[in-house]
Amino acid sequence: MEIVAAADSDERGLSLLKVVNVLQRVVVFVHSFTLEKLHKLGPSTSSAEMPTMREEDIAAKIKEICQELVLSQEALHEVCACLQEELNRGLAKESNPEATIKCFPTYVRELPNGKEKGRFLALDLGGTNFRVLLIELGDRCTMDSRIYAVPQPIMVGPGDGLFDHIAECLASFIKERDMGHELLPLGFTFSFPCKQEGLTKARLARWTKGFKCEGVEGRDVVDLLKQAIARRGDVKIKICAVLNDTTGTLMSCAWKNHNCRIGLIVGTGTNACYMEKLEKVELWDGDMEDPLQVVINTEWGAFGDNGCLDFVRTEYDNIIDRESINPGRQLYEKMISGMYMGEIARQVLVRLVSEGLLFGGYASDILLEKGSFFTKYISEIESDKVGDYNNCRIILEELGFNDATDAECANVRYVCECVSRRAAHLAAAGVAVLLNRIREESVTVAVDGSVYRFHPHFHNLMVEQISQLLEPGIKFDLMLSEDGSGRGAALVAAVASRSASMSAHAR
Ligand code: BGC
Repeated sequence: MEIVAAADSDERGLSLLKVVNVLQRVVVFVHSFTLEKLHKLGPSTSSAEMPTMREEDIAAKIKEICQELVLSQEALHEVCACLQEELNRGLAKESNPEATIKCFPTYVRELPNGKEKGRFLALDLGGTNFRVLLIELGDRCTMDSRIYAVPQPIMVGPGDGLFDHIAECLASFIKERDMGHELLPLGFTFSFPCKQEGLTKARLARWTKGFKCEGVEGRDVVDLLKQAIARRGDVKIKICAVLNDTTGTLMSCAWKNHNCRIGLIVGTGTNACYMEKLEKVELWDGDMEDPLQVVINTEWGAFGDNGCLDFVRTEYDNIIDRESINPGRQLYEKMISGMYMGEIARQVLVRLVSEGLLFGGYASDILLEKGSFFTKYISEIESDKVGDYNNCRIILEELGFNDATDAECANVRYVCECVSRRAAHLAAAGVAVLLNRIREESVTVAVDGSVYRFHPHFHNLMVEQISQLLEPGIKFDLMLSEDGSGRGAALVAAVASRSASMSAHAR
């Protein structure tokens, strides 16, 4: 309308007016075409009424609705206090069986010194892909790796099927490289909650992240892998260590950075491990020799499973949990990690449409489909420069909205920001608790995972929030850890063989 009024007075204005008219007709045509595929969700506001609501009023209303995703400093302090308590419950012998955060001791007692050497194999299972790696540690670290998909039916099929698949990929990797004659030490990064009973024995406590293979919970995954390899009979392996991806991340960073004490993953799932003094680990049943410390795999994804986070959870979190493959479990993870963030944003967007605040109250088929708003969309939308909606428009088009206005794009971006900021702040609360526990003057936190890696502001959001929650006098930094699941696995295997040969010498 503004263009029309301003252009009315001269000839250039008239031809501009014609162009605008044609454009308007095209927009109406495209809009009516897209409307056929859209569903009216808004209860009271018809699309005709929509323009009567001013953009500022819509934005304000959206802000109000999203307010429950904004955590106050007070709420975050409370989250920290609960987490601290739950970690204590996990570490104490008596309360551990009922504790939600299991704090599994990993049997990794030493960090690398940077001098580790040798050739290693590593297996990495923790998401929709499985990797086999050949790693050479020396002054530098070189790697040869191959990614294999884990098809959905295998993720939820029988356990033997999963381990047969892993064994098959490993065998083909070894054959392709003609390495059948070498018996290399192997580190197995298995990124699910496991109760470790030694460096090479880990019983799966429960599946997470969309996996649900029957017959594995309660069993030693190293044993299952060995059995699958024996069933094939065509390769030989020497498993030296089984580890969580957080431990791998910590080790990988600690290789060159000697302040590193925490490993954090914010990817498909979330979890953290840290180096704890043995005297604080009542649960520890290993030897009490030097070094008097052990890496604890907290499995903090399960934080909140006893209801203690209900005061920050929202209706969206409830829906996501209810519709997940593991309801009632991994509630902290479901607010933070990449497996769920996109779906949280989608839930919010659908609600806004249904209140007539977005897209004229009409939702596309795609937006109404569970899982259609990928977590990577959040990173992409927030990667647009402020006021520019390039990525946002491409994504909205993919979702079936071809003519989103700038104001609509800004509102979609706002929703993404609320969801990702909440995730970053919750993860930051977790890290602050661990830093406050470790109480060393300067600690590096090794971080990996797709959300941390690809979200344009996650690092900064975390750093700012950790600083708010940290006790005075503690310095920290967050460092991207390169390939924890591969290099970290090799390092655990290397440190394990060094410790073994040292204790053999001592005897
Ligand atoms: C698993 C953890 C893992 C984390 C990150 C969680 O779902 O329980 O073991 O470290 O995801 O991959």
